[in-house]
Amino acid sequence: PVGAPDKSLAKKITKVGVIGAGLMASQFALLFVRRLQVPVIITDLDQARVDKGVAYIHDEIGKLEAKGRLDSDSANKLRSLVSGTTDKSLYADCDFVIEAVFEEVGVKQQVFGEIEKFIADDAILATNTSSLSVEEIGSTLAHPERLVGFHFFNPVAVMPLIEIVKTPQTSDAALSTAFVTAKGLRKNAVLTADAPGFVVNRLLAKVMGEAARAVYEGTPLLTVEKAFAPIGLPMTPFQLIDLVGWKVAAHVQDTMAHAFPERFFASENFHKLAELSEVVDKDKAGRVTGWSKSAEKVLKGAVGS
Ligand code: 3HC
Repeated sequence: PVGAPDKSLAKKITKVGVIGAGLMASQFALLFVRRLQVPVIITDLDQARVDKGVAYIHDEIGKLEAKGRLDSDSANKLRSLVSGTTDKSLYADCDFVIEAVFEEVGVKQQVFGEIEKFIADDAILATNTSSLSVEEIGSTLAHPERLVGFHFFNPVAVMPLIEIVKTPQTSDAALSTAFVTAKGLRKNAVLTADAPGFVVNRLLAKVMGEAARAVYEGTPLLTVEKAFAPIGLPMTPFQLIDLVGWKVAAHVQDTMAHAFPERFFASENFHKLAELSEVVDKDKAGRVTGWSKSAEKVLKGAVGS
């Protein structure tokens, strides 16, 4: 697929719903508030998760204020535009609802099913899935034409790209809204095929998966890092795994291995590395600070040098 459809078909966004209050969701919820200056409502399974997401956004707004990027009136306005709830009926007047819940098709279908009961027939739904089939996620919707893939990268505030994914059912209005929204968020949008891993994760999964395998085969982790660093990408493979989170990285590996068993390894190398390290917090999403350094200490001697 190439090009974006007619901009005039884009729906005006006046209120955004974010399903999920984890790290990625909170990061892009902030971006929506900051760039579109519209109310954003965040929901999750329970109030504690919602509160954590909202607190993250308030913190980040505070940091922007401290850096002089926002004056206090603007910062307060942004804070007032963010609200968190577990009551999904409050999504009723959202015209753009994006999810970043657990990466499982059934979970995403379930949350969209709940939301669809409340929103208008022409409201747009977007998924931030990193590698699952957007068409499959939309297959249980009453209106699958309203669904589009809208994939952000971590850290959302800085990474300039959004992958937009169209399914055979996606309407021109939904696609156009996605492109216009990405522009409003000041991101570059690319339209990718609805193929596992889209474009970027397909490439990064190779880097991260092969790095883990190289370590498992006996090259010390820091050697892998040192060998890769001069290539000039902003992060080495294990720094990248730290950044996206061990669990997310492993999940992307498994999705790719399931889709292309002849080209990708399952995440078993990640799991073996994690088992070798006593310091990996396997349940932690997002940055696992110092994982690569700490894992290296444990790996020395465990897999030879
Ligand atoms: N939130 C907000 N801002 C952040 C941030 C965060 N989590 N991390 C960094 N920043 C900001 C800093 O505040 C700083 O802003 P300033 O210059 O305006 O003050 C700017 O980014 C640069 O930060 P630093 O100087 O601390 O660090 P670096 O220059 O080393 O850059 C980096 C950090 C931007 C993260 C850079 O290392 C990078 O681009 N890394 C590659 C990241 C990447 O590949 N991401 C994709 C991951 S894959 C993914 O997300 C897909 C998913 O589906 C798995």
